[in-house]
Amino acid sequence: PVAAQRADERPGYHFAPARNWMNDPNGLVYYDGEYHLFYQYNPHGDRWGHMNWGHAVSRDLIHWQELPIAIPETRDVMAFSGSAVVDWKNTSGFGRGGKPPLVAVFTGHNPKAKLQSQYVAYSNDRGRTWIVHGEVLSVGSAEFRDPKVFWHEATKRWVMIAVMALENRAVIFTSTDLKQWTFASSFGPAGARGRNWECPDLFEMPVEGGAKGERKWVLSVNLGDNAVGGGSGGQYFVGGFDGRTFTPAPGWGGETRWMDYGADFYAAVTYNDLPSRDPRRIWIGWANDWRYAEVIPTWPSRGLMTVPRSLTLRRTADGYRIVQLPVQELQALRGAPRGPTALKLGDAPIPLPVDGGKAELEMDLDVGDAEQIAITLTDGQGWQTIVGVNPTGNEVFVDRTRSGPHFHDGFANRHVAPVEIKGKVRLRILVDESIVEVFVNGGEQTITDRFFRGGGPLSWSASARGGTATANLTAWPLQNSGTGG
Ligand code: FRU
Repeated sequence: PVAAQRADERPGYHFAPARNWMNDPNGLVYYDGEYHLFYQYNPHGDRWGHMNWGHAVSRDLIHWQELPIAIPETRDVMAFSGSAVVDWKNTSGFGRGGKPPLVAVFTGHNPKAKLQSQYVAYSNDRGRTWIVHGEVLSVGSAEFRDPKVFWHEATKRWVMIAVMALENRAVIFTSTDLKQWTFASSFGPAGARGRNWECPDLFEMPVEGGAKGERKWVLSVNLGDNAVGGGSGGQYFVGGFDGRTFTPAPGWGGETRWMDYGADFYAAVTYNDLPSRDPRRIWIGWANDWRYAEVIPTWPSRGLMTVPRSLTLRRTADGYRIVQLPVQELQALRGAPRGPTALKLGDAPIPLPVDGGKAELEMDLDVGDAEQIAITLTDGQGWQTIVGVNPTGNEVFVDRTRSGPHFHDGFANRHVAPVEIKGKVRLRILVDESIVEVFVNGGEQTITDRFFRGGGPLSWSASARGGTATANLTAWPLQNSGTGG
């Protein structure tokens, strides 16, 4: 048995419900000034089960207010993952009083009937209360889930992408009213395979560094196991979509594109219906791994979301790549900056000017002749989590092999992102007591890992092995946004 998480070790600016179990983000949608974050939630305990749609809202993506459960399980059917849209033209007919309804499309999981099928629910009061309309799409499968729905303007239709999980396939349906769905196409297996594919998404993005006006579609899908971090993780494909079929870009394929190289980035999906003045594509992931999700030593809530991240699709020498950065709203939590400070790193660890466990660091690193550079977080009992750079191996990594007391065999590991270092690397590091999110070179690679402490406050140091490195560091303490878990 491991000690419960102490109150001062709870993350302060990453969302978690006040208590109990949470997994995937669901129904990310913006409506009338509010960002909605629904999520897989068990109101009865801190392990998976009794899935309901929990609910939180925010006006800035940073300060969240937890609301009552949005969509409950029924006697036979749990409310599994799905999405939500604003039905602007009231195509569903669910709207009342001239205002567009919010419509949620989610998986009804019926274990007795061995059936997973897609359900629709709607709200006419800004997501506060929901009416379950009922099942709208079944293919008679026990593993058909996680519908992501969006409006496709060119064909004037709703599009749903879901998974046939065990077949490692994404399936696409279309509709004019969110109730009657017609099969359009299937994608996969492709790229990385696992026991299942889950939580797909499909969205269009402008290409940074591409031909003038170039736009591409991203199909993202998560794997329950067998991902780059050792367990659950996500991959994506880039190509075209005509409203019915996703076609990967020519030359695409071969090497898997991972969303994140850590162990704790899963089920990420993007927001629907951001206001038209906001051209961003934003996603949130569940900071967990199914291998150990149910036994991570936190209490009274178990499960945490990543910070919302803004995406760019960049054309690199290496093909199209998703680039991720924390949404700029997060900067509102910054306290007074420390630095920029010039650091000279060698064998003896030097303390970094960072106070405590809620912080953001921006470090421009000149690796010099060092063989390895380490930014080390040490807790009161000497447990250490390292963000490291290995210049000759072209690696940035998070090492949590000595992060804290043992609670699961799959946890103590090192997670590596391949990065061409060429003498320099820029790291942006977010730490929130028990989670580290590393954004490498402006977000071209990310590593998301949780770590659990033996106790006591965190202190920061940096060192270099086998040579000398220099760095320019700016660090900010981050305030608690009051919604941490
Ligand atoms: C992904 C997932 C989904 C499913 C939900 C159930 O983590 O397994 O496929 O809808 O969680 O809670």
